Parts: sequence; structure tokens; C-alpha cells
Amino acid sequence: MNIRPRTPDDDEAIAEVTRSAFTAGPRGHAGEAELVEALRRDGDAAIELVAEMDGRVVGHVMLSTMRDPTGALGLGPLSTSPEAWRRGIGSMLMDAAIARATGYGATMIFLLGNPDFYRRFGFASETAAAFDSAYDPPYFQALRLTKDAPRSGRARYARAFGED
Ligand SMILES: CC(C)(COP(=O)(O)OP(=O)(O)OC[C@H]1O[C@@H](n2cnc3c(N)ncnc32)[C@H](O)[C@@H]1OP(=O)(O)O)[C@@H](O)C(=O)NCCC(=O)NCCS
Repeated sequence: MNIRPRTPDDDEAIAEVTRSAFTAGPRGHAGEAELVEALRRDGDAAIELVAEMDGRVVGHVMLSTMRDPTGALGLGPLSTSPEAWRRGIGSMLMDAAIARATGYGATMIFLLGNPDFYRRFGFASETAAAFDSAYDPPYFQALRLTKDAPRSGRARYARAFGED
């Protein structure tokens, strides 16, 4: 298993992994592959990593620049191929995403998802709930990466998320 930055040659495989993950997932949503493409098109994709196994892309994570707060990244979508679920690939992508975001200089990461999965990486809905946003706990969660990360204010994802 290899985690590496995405290249444009990966994009077809990333779209396929994203579609199959979200269609098979508990809250199937076919628009996630289009969201990935829209974030790239808008120039809001900050970090993208793929998980590669035997030369095949089996996972992907996107981190995009948030409109608010300054310095924050939004994590998602995160997807792994359904036939490879529960083998640690999603966790490896999360660990790598957090490390890259730290290296990138991000102050914090916000995400939306099941807290049972994300709390193991340090995400907390209490951290996110201190921010005004369009999202509700417990799904809206955040992880502070730096001491000077903001503690309150507004949280708004990149435009492609379509909050307003
Ligand atoms: C969520 C997802 C990325 C996890 O990928 P994975 O490669 O199976 O992850 P891992 O093998 O590292 O870890 C899976 C662990 O998280 C748990 N888990 C996986 N998906 C979960 C979910 N939606 N809710 C709660 N727990 C979940 C598993 O039970 C497993 O726990 P275990 O280690 O105790 O067995 C993958 O299931 C997926 O692509 N799902 C569909 C898309 C999605 O929901 N993405 C996240 C929201 S943005």
C-alpha cells in the first residue's frame, strides 16, 4: 500500500472510487465525484492523496481551502473502494491527510461524517460547534493543528459545497 499525492492521471480512477464508495455507503450520494471535480476546477483543492495497491487507486482524500476561518482546510470527500473496506486504508489516508495538512501550515481541519470513525483521529464535534456554520453536531467535527488556531467564528467550506 502506497499513499501519495494525486496526479491528473489518477482522476478517472479517483472518480470511480468515489462513486462506488458513496453509492455503497450508508448514506449514498452520487454527487461526491462531481464535488471533487468542482473543487479542482475552482482552484480550491489544497491537498489530494491517493492510496494505491498493486498499481491501482483504491482510496482518495480531498482537503480544500475553506472560506472561513482563515487557514482552515475542509476534509472530504474521503473514499475507499468497497471491496477494500475495513483493511485500514481509510485510516492510513486520514493519518497522511492530517500530516500533510500540518506540513501545509493549516491551522485546523473541519469535516462532516460519522464521529465513530473520525474521533479516533482526534476530531471532535465540540471543537466544530463553537463555530457558526450550516452544519450540526455530531457530524460536523474539527481538529486543531496549531496553538493559534481560531476557537470560534464562522466556518464555511469552499464554494463547491454549495452552502449558499
Ligand atoms: C469511511 C471509509 C472511508 C472507511 O474506509 P476503510 O478503508 O474501511 O477504513 P479503515 O479500514 O481504516 O477503518 C474502518 C474502521 O472504521 C469503521 N468505519 C468505517 N466506516 C465507518 C462509518 N461510516 N461509520 C462508522 N465507522 C466506520 C469500521 O468499522 C472500521 O473499524 P475497525 O477498525 O474497528 O474495524 C469507507 O468506508 C468509505 O469510503 N465509505 C463510503 C464513503 C464515506 O462514507 N466516506 C466518509 C464520509 S466523507
